[in-house]
Amino acid sequence: MDRSKIDQHSRVVVLTGAGISAESGVKTFRDNDGLWENYRIEDVATPEAFRRDPQLVWRFYDQRRKQLKTVAPNPAHHALAQLQAMLGPERLTLITQNVDDLHERGGSKAVIHMHGELLKVRCTRCRTITHTEADMLSDDQAETLPHCECGGLLRPHIVWFGEMPFEMDFIQNKLAECTHFIAIGTSGVVYPAAGFLQIARQIGAYTIGFNLEPPENHRLFDQFIQGKAGQQLPQWVNSLALQV
Ligand code: OAD
Repeated sequence: MDRSKIDQHSRVVVLTGAGISAESGVKTFRDNDGLWENYRIEDVATPEAFRRDPQLVWRFYDQRRKQLKTVAPNPAHHALAQLQAMLGPERLTLITQNVDDLHERGGSKAVIHMHGELLKVRCTRCRTITHTEADMLSDDQAETLPHCECGGLLRPHIVWFGEMPFEMDFIQNKLAECTHFIAIGTSGVVYPAAGFLQIARQIGAYTIGFNLEPPENHRLFDQFIQGKAGQQLPQWVNSLALQV
């Protein structure tokens, strides 16, 4: 039996990282001397940072939210949506570590954002999650922090360092039954996402990695495809279209 073959009976789990959005103009994490868009991660992406200086954190996330409006999905996002349409959303689970909405805008359905979403905010008191594209700190009221109707302080719906990623039970269940695991544009160093490859290997899934450079774990993939995701992924999906 050819384990690599993807067909109508396959159950595919795809994990994407910052590399899939790089060609859309969104910066990756590990290429900037520990800085993220000129900020130190510990100043803007931890619960302690938010307690210490919520305004700085909101200013940072407002910038990220604004930046989203200036970028568009690239051929890699579209190729994944095409693959999901070929197999059906119940047979292709798309998990992303990215907080942008480029998978959705590229046409993918039921995207699992395990590290949260830039366009959602959460009340620190009643925990209500709201989708909003508005600026949270308006320029003329820079001192005013955003609050929920219940009076609680709003925070970005983002998983910060030291916090538990979202949807882990759902993800574990999907990994436990997958026949194929595909990682795209992720350095494979941030857990728990970095451990998905091992879980998939243990249950005998066929594993494929796409990355610009071989990441540390590239030898663990059954197949590793090097190059820009925006070029390699559409080619690969088109070659599958003939099989499915
Ligand atoms: P990284 O910045 O660690 O890794 C990006 C990966 O994408 C690298 O391995 C690059 O070689 C690769 N890459 C860059 N451009 C590419 C391209 N055009 N095509 C294909 N690959 C490309 O980003 P992640 O692995 O996503 O967590 O980082 C994981 C997590 O670390 C993030 O979600 C974030 C960060 O801390 C949180 O915010 C909780």
